[in-house]
Amino acid sequence: MNKKEIVDAEEKIMANTFAKRDLVLTKGKGATVWDIDGNEYIDCTGSYGVAVVGHCHPKVVAAVQKQVETLIACHASFYNDARSELLEKLIRLPPEGLNKVFLSSSGAESVECAIKLARKYSGKPEIIAMMGAFHGKTLGALSATWKKKYRAPFMPLVPGFKHVPPDNLEKLREAITDQTAAVLVEPVRGEGGILVPSDSFLSGLREVCDEKGVLLIFDEVQTGFGRTGKVFACEHWNVVPDIMCLAKSVAGGLPMGATFARGEVMDAFQRGEHSSTFSGNPLICAAASAAIDVLVEEKLPERAATLGKYFKGKLEELAEKYKIVREVRGLGLMLGMEMRFDVYKILQGCMERGVLVLDAGRNVVRFLPPLVIEKQQIDRVIEVLDEVLAGENR
Ligand SMILES: Cc1ncc(COP(=O)(O)O)c(C=O)c1O
Repeated sequence: MNKKEIVDAEEKIMANTFAKRDLVLTKGKGATVWDIDGNEYIDCTGSYGVAVVGHCHPKVVAAVQKQVETLIACHASFYNDARSELLEKLIRLPPEGLNKVFLSSSGAESVECAIKLARKYSGKPEIIAMMGAFHGKTLGALSATWKKKYRAPFMPLVPGFKHVPPDNLEKLREAITDQTAAVLVEPVRGEGGILVPSDSFLSGLREVCDEKGVLLIFDEVQTGFGRTGKVFACEHWNVVPDIMCLAKSVAGGLPMGATFARGEVMDAFQRGEHSSTFSGNPLICAAASAAIDVLVEEKLPERAATLGKYFKGKLEELAEKYKIVREVRGLGLMLGMEMRFDVYKILQGCMERGVLVLDAGRNVVRFLPPLVIEKQQIDRVIEVLDEVLAGENR
């Protein structure tokens, strides 16, 4: 198919729910992607944070190739070797105590599982989420998501959800009732604009939850798997939740969600109360096993910490130079640059110069590159941004 045929097919047939960029991507390797005409791009979108181990990592490719010829589908009502191998590796990743997991296929599903589990374990209906939060777009996850634009057309959402201002323990304390099951939080807000909480917030949250007997759920769908410079962002503050959601990057680019919980909490689910046809699919599990090996062997969290510091420093230099930059923030290789205006033209200008970046809300440029990105590639991204910002700064 040529470019026009590809675009036409997606425009005509696919549900019109994505804001499309005029780019047909056909190949990827590490932090580089290529379009159909062979033009090269540095991928600071990481496919919305998915490509942590890089595009088409050879270990992930080899694992998928091997498994695809062995067994592709195996429902979780049967045992399977690829799944068990993954589970043993996966359960070593989260902080101690989170020793059981439910596998699914996406971030929203991992949040759905967390919500159901909190309700089942506590026997209570209320979930408190943060204003500005993003947890996905299925009905349960959407009920925890803040943005009116996403919520309004689908009312009524699931009852029992409340939102409180982030970073405000007093308001949280006031919002908790004897019907509250859990508090659901992104340790670093992603879609909301790359917002790192104050140093005492997550530990304070843990204390309030303990004091009130309420479960604490961390949504690490975007922050997890090394992105922020630790395997999970909550490790920066040494706070362990009762339930934790992971997705995006865990299977090296293939779809997987994982909801971790303390064993006692997860055991609240009885047979049949939560399941999914693709839960623990062997092909995805084989990819995830390989991705975990890569994460560990290539020390990707450490790499994210070092390169993230470097990248952030360079962005801060740009912020010094251009008054149109309001603030640079983030942790590891989860970075945001808040502008004084809509960032659409910046995204476009970067793309025209071979760099793909994301937005986070209207006025934040977001960077979620693969953690295997090279230092020279970061330097090139900075050069391009310098050029684009110079053009916008007039
Ligand atoms: C923090 C967070 N939670 C949940 C989700 C939903 O994940 P998915 O799009 O895989 O359903 C996202 C997606 O960006 C996210 O950033």
